[in-house]
Amino acid sequence: MKANAFRLYKTGGPSVLKWETVDVPEPKQGEVRLRHTAVGLNLADTYRRIGLYPMKIPGGIGNEAVGVVEAVGPGTRGIKVGDRVGYIGGKTLDGYSERRIATVSDLIPLPDGIKDRTAAAALLKGITAQYLLRDSYKVKKGDTIVVHAAAGGVGLIMCQWANSIGATVIGIVSTKEKAKIAAKNGCHHPIVVSRTKPKFAKKVRELTNGEGAHCIYDSVGKDTWAESLASVRLRGSVINFGSASGNPPLVDIAKTGPLGSPYIARCALVNYTTSRAETMRRARDLFNAIESGAVKIRVNQRYPLKDAAQAHKDIEARKTTGSTVLIP
Ligand SMILES: NC(=O)c1ccc[n+]([C@@H]2O[C@H](COP(=O)([O-])OP(=O)(O)OC[C@H]3O[C@@H](n4cnc5c(N)ncnc54)[C@H](OP(=O)(O)O)[C@@H]3O)[C@@H](O)[C@H]2O)c1
Repeated sequence: MKANAFRLYKTGGPSVLKWETVDVPEPKQGEVRLRHTAVGLNLADTYRRIGLYPMKIPGGIGNEAVGVVEAVGPGTRGIKVGDRVGYIGGKTLDGYSERRIATVSDLIPLPDGIKDRTAAAALLKGITAQYLLRDSYKVKKGDTIVVHAAAGGVGLIMCQWANSIGATVIGIVSTKEKAKIAAKNGCHHPIVVSRTKPKFAKKVRELTNGEGAHCIYDSVGKDTWAESLASVRLRGSVINFGSASGNPPLVDIAKTGPLGSPYIARCALVNYTTSRAETMRRARDLFNAIESGAVKIRVNQRYPLKDAAQAHKDIEARKTTGSTVLIP
């Protein structure tokens, strides 16, 4: 069978995304053929496209999508034609495609109450928010946390979820419009910062009676790291989980003593979804948060899948808010 899919032959700007017709083979044992109905856009797709994160070249791109099972490999159990499923990883990056072969053990069955587009907008960003808030640092009622890119895809989910746990949420954003969006989604104190020289530590201290926040969730990296370290309270946590402005600088661990001995980690989804059981446990927690209304998934942009290059330009230019889905 033939399908359209993106292929990359080199890393670079959005124009390296090539929309091509490819062969989709029959599924083997343990595999299914999926017809995608919605594909999740993630900033990390642009990191891979530019070569910041490694990826196989030539190859596809995209590690989050939702679809319907069209064919099941011989001898494969536990899944049938017509099942609705999603995924947030797998052996190959083939998310930006109309159809693909997927490994059954990578698939997350979707609850009836969660629509395909919502799931494509929620799975990767929501499971990330889940592990960050529940495990990287365990957010408790009464904590104060700082969420970077608070009006973005992961950011809006984190603000709502942390708010529902009972934490006070300080959000870092780059425009007044984004501050309003964050505030409508659980962020108690949005701080608007300059895009070139973001400063927020002083304001975080003011908002926390001089103590600093319990945890700083920094997905911006290079431009914000020093301010993030200056915003944390005694023995708090500073978690980097993204490199929107470039990788954070090297940490001189001896110099973190005078900063109050914070716990510092670079957290990656792959280290918190180490087995099917772990991924499913986190997915169920996310589905419960969505179904209970604690977290509303904001799909603020939709693009035809073939226009993925434009979606990349827009997310890199910081024009998007909430989640973005690509529709095959
Ligand atoms: N480690 C993990 O497990 C994991 C998993 C998923 C996502 N992430 C990370 O989480 C972050 C959010 O991902 P997302 O897909 O939901 O994206 P997003 O937040 O919707 O978009 C990125 C946002 O980052 C901010 N930003 C700051 N500096 C930027 C720059 N130089 N270029 C572009 N954006 C910049 C912008 O918000 P402002 O304009 O308000 O600053 C922008 O809207 C990303 O850093 C991503 O890599 C990490």
